[in-house]
Amino acid sequence: MKIRPSSSDDLSAILKIESLTNQIPWTKQQFLSSEEVGHYSVVLEAVEGVIAFAIYSPIIPESHLLNIAVAPSHQGQGHGRYLLQKVILQNKTLGVQSLTLEVRVSNRSAIAMYESEGFLKDAIRPNYYSGKTREDALLMSLAIK
Ligand SMILES: CC(C)(COP(=O)(O)OP(=O)(O)OC[C@H]1O[C@@H](n2cnc3c(N)ncnc32)[C@H](O)[C@@H]1OP(=O)(O)O)[C@@H](O)C(=O)NCCC(=O)NCCS
Repeated sequence: MKIRPSSSDDLSAILKIESLTNQIPWTKQQFLSSEEVGHYSVVLEAVEGVIAFAIYSPIIPESHLLNIAVAPSHQGQGHGRYLLQKVILQNKTLGVQSLTLEVRVSNRSAIAMYESEGFLKDAIRPNYYSGKTREDALLMSLAIK
């Protein structure tokens, strides 16, 4: 199991995971634009291939976690936490002091993971997510020391 920066070869695996895990999946174009503007993208690779990815945007001393997902067949086995911890460590190395994110208020497993890694609930952004029904976002942040 290793974490490494993603390359263009990983795009199809990332798109597959995204389509299975996100109610409103990022499009291929969104992933390409994200790369173009310099977001950091990392993947978790197992023997069978890429099973998780994370994307963040550091603007020191802050950074925003834009996306993190584990393939459904590999969820609940500690991979999400492992990847999140590595992302936090990478941000710390970059000099980030505050890592922020938005999460659907209904996404209890993600919120539990973030809280157990020290993220605090900061605010609610009403109707942030579009879709069949709109949903509020919970804004969370982690102070990195
Ligand atoms: C959120 C996500 C990344 C977690 O990854 P994961 O590999 O399944 O999580 P882990 O096995 O590392 O578990 C980490 C913690 O998450 C929480 N968690 C994970 N699955 C859970 C579940 N089914 N119910 C409740 N809490 C859960 C727990 O707090 C868990 O810690 P614990 O095992 O000590 O109780 C993954 O479920 C996912 O990809 N979800 C879809 C995409 C998504 O929602 N991304 C976040 C967007 S902000």
